[in-house]
Amino acid sequence: MRSVVHTRRGDPAEVLELREEPGRPRPGAGEVLVRLRARPVHPGDLVAVEGGLPGLPDQRPKPRIPGVEGMGVVESAGADVRTPRPGRRVAVFPAPGAWAEYVVVPAEHAVPVPDEVGDDTAALMLVNPLTLIMLHRAVEQALDGHDGPVVQTAAGSSVGRLVAARAERHGLRLVNLVRSTAGARRMRELFPAQPVIVTSDADWREQVRRATGGEGARAVLDCVGGSLTEDLAGLLADGGTLISYGRLGSGATTLDDLPLVNRGLTIRGVTIWHWTERTPEQRAEDLAFAVDLARTSPELLEVAARYDLADVKAAVEHARRPGKSGTVLLTSPPGTGGVR
Ligand SMILES: NC(=O)c1ccc[n+]([C@@H]2O[C@H](COP(=O)([O-])OP(=O)(O)OC[C@H]3O[C@@H](n4cnc5c(N)ncnc54)[C@H](OP(=O)(O)O)[C@@H]3O)[C@@H](O)[C@H]2O)c1
Repeated sequence: MRSVVHTRRGDPAEVLELREEPGRPRPGAGEVLVRLRARPVHPGDLVAVEGGLPGLPDQRPKPRIPGVEGMGVVESAGADVRTPRPGRRVAVFPAPGAWAEYVVVPAEHAVPVPDEVGDDTAALMLVNPLTLIMLHRAVEQALDGHDGPVVQTAAGSSVGRLVAARAERHGLRLVNLVRSTAGARRMRELFPAQPVIVTSDADWREQVRRATGGEGARAVLDCVGGSLTEDLAGLLADGGTLISYGRLGSGATTLDDLPLVNRGLTIRGVTIWHWTERTPEQRAEDLAFAVDLARTSPELLEVAARYDLADVKAAVEHARRPGKSGTVLLTSPPGTGGVR
């Protein structure tokens, strides 16, 4: 079986390597073995290779196979597993170690893919749509019945576009921040009714104040963080909420730099790793949403490029490239991955 591994933390372009070894894992009770065809390179996968964010589960390489999501075909199932059965096309999440040709997951982490959903779309069907649901819930709580305004950073990201599409559908007043004029152009083409502001403009803070009607944002959805955090807190209306769900940026803001007390601000974090704590009924509802989104809006689950597992370093370079649109996939040719 081929897999991508790392034995130390560090720059993914340096520490990741392809490993080939005979055999494949076996599913135990309640588990399925999935022969994967495609898995995304998410920003979070790269952060985990680099060393992880504070508070994440221990990610020390032993060696470790990265990856959390993918799609493929069920190869075999534990004796007690009724569904999904071998031969079924599935998307898997959480699937730690998905950057390999095979992964074993609990049967309930393998979600059947409808025939009309293509492999590439299926590979992106779970993490970002489920993140969208969690962000939407956090925004609703922050807005407490109001329709905005909400500001989001890295609006042209794969998650940011899902947020913008949902805002359009739900009549949420959203202001999109991007870091480049090229990114703004792409975003305006996709969502012409929504304001898009470029943070490299000298007066971008003033532009946001105008776009939020002078009142400030009730919520900011942020995946950039770092030194931008202080500016973002300044864009909030009194009593507003900063929802942090990623850290693409550099630099740092200390808590003491933020006017939390005097302006009654709230900071909260959102992570998909808390999704598994939802009740089985809630998870089934969320998965139905994700499958429906993949069926009806595949353009929102855009693929930037596909690379074979062996080309993981090129895939990582592409995933980090400024101006990239969509998510990079690591693929395996159909029918490969058997015992060598
Ligand atoms: N909390 C969770 O559970 C969870 C789940 C999923 C994703 N996320 C987070 O959500 C964020 C977006 O993920 P994604 O997969 O949608 O990303 P993506 O498709 O790879 O897009 C990355 C985007 O971020 C922008 N960007 C990169 N570095 C930036 C910086 N320093 N300042 C401003 N913008 C920057 C890029 O802009 P350009 O176009 O200008 O290059 C691009 O639009 C990531 O932080 C990821 O970790 C969190």
